[in-house]
Amino acid sequence: HARLRGVVALDGPSGTGKSTVARKLAAELGATYLDTGAMYRAVTLGVLRAGAAPDDAAGVERIASAAKLEMGTDPLAPTVFLDGADVAVEIRGPEVTGAVSAVSAVGAVRELLVEQQRGLIREALSAPGGIVVEGRDIGTVVAPDAGLKVFLTASSHARAQRRTAQDTAEGRVSDLERTHADVRRRDALDSGRRTSPLRRADDALELDTTELDVAAVVGRLLELVENRGLLA
Ligand code: DC
Repeated sequence: HARLRGVVALDGPSGTGKSTVARKLAAELGATYLDTGAMYRAVTLGVLRAGAAPDDAAGVERIASAAKLEMGTDPLAPTVFLDGADVAVEIRGPEVTGAVSAVSAVGAVRELLVEQQRGLIREALSAPGGIVVEGRDIGTVVAPDAGLKVFLTASSHARAQRRTAQDTAEGRVSDLERTHADVRRRDALDSGRRTSPLRRADDALELDTTELDVAAVVGRLLELVENRGLLA
């Protein structure tokens, strides 16, 4: 395969298969990979560990400013370190998942993380090969100049099923009905918040993955990358 040039922005709600396809796409294209949701999750873990309330904006801002995040951008083995410790497993747990929407609604946290994300993207672009960045506001806020922006969607039921399957595969207890309720609750919070609500960028292509498996989505994205002339 030829290598990616520039930035691919993948946005959309949870459970669209975004992380899986973003990593595969990056690996296929010899690109690096940035999971911005993992950054919001790591800050949330820091907030919970400090015993602060996720909706205490001042407390959350203080903790976020002091937290040291290190993101490993290899798509085959992405890593997340908080204050020197590997937190990849803990940030996927139910406590963090339950609190991350509140933390990511704090404007100061978003400003801080968007700045770090832009730094990581600049760093990636200074080496050969581009970067695939996934999140909620990549096409709208973090990387508005991305060469390709795709907004992934899927029915809330399909997304809940995928999340449950993923939880089970990774050894966590999961209940489909609760997950479906959680997916809808988070959709409402993420789309309704005042700072950077989840929305498709005007120039993003929408891709509904309800009926598509991972290989089909990656195949479609590879076509789009090629058609945009983003291969070096
Ligand atoms: O993709 P994820 O489930 O790991 O994201 C976790 C939370 O972080 C989710 O509730 C939305 C938020 N998030 C965000 O606000 N902006 C991003 N760029 C990425 C994630």
